[in-house]
Order: sequence, then C-alpha cells, then structure tokens
Amino acid sequence: MRHKLLTIVLLSVFAVQCTSPKNNIIEDNIANAEKQLTYLLEASEEGDTVRIPSTFKNGEIEFVPTDDWVSGFFAGTLWYMYELTGEEKWAEHAQKHTEILSDIQFLKWHHDVGFMVYDSYGNGLRLKNIPGYDTVLVNTAKSLSTRFRPAAGILQSWNVINNGWQSERGWKCPVIIDNMMNLELLFKVSEMTGDPTYKNIAISHADKTLENHYRSDFSTYHVVDYDDETGEIRRKCTAQGIADESRWARGQAWSIYGFTVAYRFTGDERYLQRAKDVAHYLLVDEDNMPEDLVPLWDFDVVQFANDADEMIELFNDKDAMLPYTEIRDASSAAIISSALYELYWFTKDKLYKEKADKMIESLSSPAYRAEVGTNGGFILMHSVGSLPHSVVNIRTNPAAHNIDVPLNYADYYFLEALIRKGRVENGENPIK
Ligand code: GLY
Repeated sequence: MRHKLLTIVLLSVFAVQCTSPKNNIIEDNIANAEKQLTYLLEASEEGDTVRIPSTFKNGEIEFVPTDDWVSGFFAGTLWYMYELTGEEKWAEHAQKHTEILSDIQFLKWHHDVGFMVYDSYGNGLRLKNIPGYDTVLVNTAKSLSTRFRPAAGILQSWNVINNGWQSERGWKCPVIIDNMMNLELLFKVSEMTGDPTYKNIAISHADKTLENHYRSDFSTYHVVDYDDETGEIRRKCTAQGIADESRWARGQAWSIYGFTVAYRFTGDERYLQRAKDVAHYLLVDEDNMPEDLVPLWDFDVVQFANDADEMIELFNDKDAMLPYTEIRDASSAAIISSALYELYWFTKDKLYKEKADKMIESLSSPAYRAEVGTNGGFILMHSVGSLPHSVVNIRTNPAAHNIDVPLNYADYYFLEALIRKGRVENGENPIK
C-alpha cells in the first residue's frame, strides 16, 4: 500500500513537472513576456499618452517618433502577445499603438515603411481584420513604390544625406540589404488587390539584390550604391558594419529572412536556394557564429579591429575599437531564428529547426533574457543598433548610443520566432 502511494506521489510530481511552464520554453517565455511587456506598456501609455518605446539605457526608456524606422515594432509585439495568449487586452493596446502610425502610409522619404506598417497594421489586419487597415497597407505600398528606380531595377533605401558622417560617403542611390524586408508588404498588397505592380517591383528588387549584394561565400554587403540614371553599380560598402568588406551581423539576418519571404510569395526556387545558401554559410561554417549562436554585432569585428587600414574612416583607431570586439547582437539571432523556422517548413531540413531551437534556448537563458522587473520591461538584453552611428553619438552625446542595449525589434522577432516554433512543432505552417 505504502509502495503504491509513493508511486502515485512520484508520478504526480513528474506529471506536474512535465506540464509546468518551466518545462516548456514557449510557455515560459510567454509568462515572462506578459510581465515585462505589461510594465513597458504601462510606461508607454502613462498619462493618456501613446508613445513608442525603442530601447532602455541609462535607467530610462527611450521613445521614438512615428517616422523612426523602428516605430512599428512595439505595436507588432503587442499583436504577437495577443496571438500568443488570446487575451483581448493585448489586441486593444496593439490597436491603439498601431493607429498612432496612420500618417506613415504617406511617408516617402525612406524605405522602412514596409517594416513600420506591415508589423503594425499588417498584423492587425491578419489577426482582427480591422476595417480600413487594408487601405493603409495599399497606400503604404504606393508610397514605397515611389522609391523604385527603373534604370537600376531597385527601390532606393535612403535619400542622399546632406549632413553628418554618412553624407561624406558620396552615395547616389544606396540600397541596403535590409530593404529585402520591405518586400513582404508589396507582395501582400498585390495578393490583396490583384494588382501585380507591387509584386513586380518586389521581384525586380529581389533579383537585383540576388545578383549584386552577395559575395561568393553568400555573405552580404550592407550597402550597394547604384547610379539611378544608368543602373550601374558605383560601390559596395557598409553603413553599419566595421568595414566595407566585413559581415555586419544584422545584414546577414535580413538577408536570410528576406529571401525566405520572397520564396513564400513567388515559389521562385532561386530565392529558396539563396536562403539555403545563406543558412549554410551562417550555420555550417563554424567560425561565423559563437557556440550559443548569438553573433557578434559584426562577424569580422575582431579581424578588422586589428587591421586599421580596412576599417571605415570613422573608426580609424584600433584602440577605439577594442571595447566593441566582444559585443553580441541578440536581435540578429532573433531574426535568424524566426527565418529558420519558415525555411525549415519549406525544406523539412532538420538542421534549420535544430539551430533555430538552439538560438531560442540561448536567447531564453539569463545571458540574454532580462530578469523580470529589469531592462525597462524589454524582454531581451544585448543588441546593437548601429555601432558606427553610435560612435559618432558617443563623441557628441554619450547618452545617445545604442550599443549593447535592449531593442524593440529584438523582442518583436523573438516573439515571432516563438509563434513559428509552436506552429512547426504542431505540424502547422508557421505563417498564418
Ligand atoms: N534597418 C536598420 C537596421 O537593421 O539597423
């Protein structure tokens, strides 16, 4: 009898442990995110305001204006919380944070409207079918399309900048690999409206990127500067990496994510092959990633910090670089893991899922995931915005740097990856 009782007790303890949230990495992360984001949400809606939190540093949450490229990620994070929990309160706040962005549909002076509007209105449309959100997406696609340069066949990323360090680089029509991320909006709007214009622009841009942005090892340049009148390439270089020939981590992340999405909408095997080639170079070529699969902010920072001739002018001083040679970028791991779950879905190659799971495991560990009540309410620590731009800021305004901080897009892609992980583990398409 005593033996039987003991067996029942042990089995019960085992059962509780097996179903306990701590044993399920997705549930555990949801519970953590609920606490952190409740705090961040309260701060962002304090006193009837609706502000957009972007990072936390020097003990303060930083908020950005609606035309900042990161303005859609917090709304998107709230939509993902709704998707993960099914709780209406997250959708209500997500809607509020989405609708403060309504003017962005008419923004034409930079390319990031795809990020800004698709993460906010796009998720709202997908999850709640809110009337009018479809029109916002269509208007945004029209605005983005004004940046198409037919002679070069690409969407121009940035306007030529007239002031600051970047203006001295002499670009005419810069295209950054990040721009692949804006194509999802164009593909979607063609699907919604039946008008192929947007999809055709997206395909042209993806084809040119496929052709011109890559090195032979499938790492990507950050910037390709085109002549928008002749279509010729003027230069291949960097804006956010340490050197023109270095491999800026988030650029590699946008690259694998962008071509996976392009394959989703077109079925074009060339795009799938490129995503697989990038994955191979990222994951199989061991020296590209540390063991925990959370990359340094630039894969080549150590090498170039020892080779001052190759560093972009801004750094020119080896000693100035040394403090930055060990800094990771959690945002890149979050973006890559999310892309890998979709790539796994298309290919059924288990390597992609194993590596994505490993990234999620690392990001969920105390090394990257903040303790509840810290980090200003952001989920992940240790990301890098733009180190070169931050270095300029450090010189003029030390409080303005974005190095080794939480960033709202790291949290956004982390939650997205968790949703996708849950779906593929249930045998479902990760994209709904
Ligand atoms: N799109 C800008 C960045 O990734 O930092």
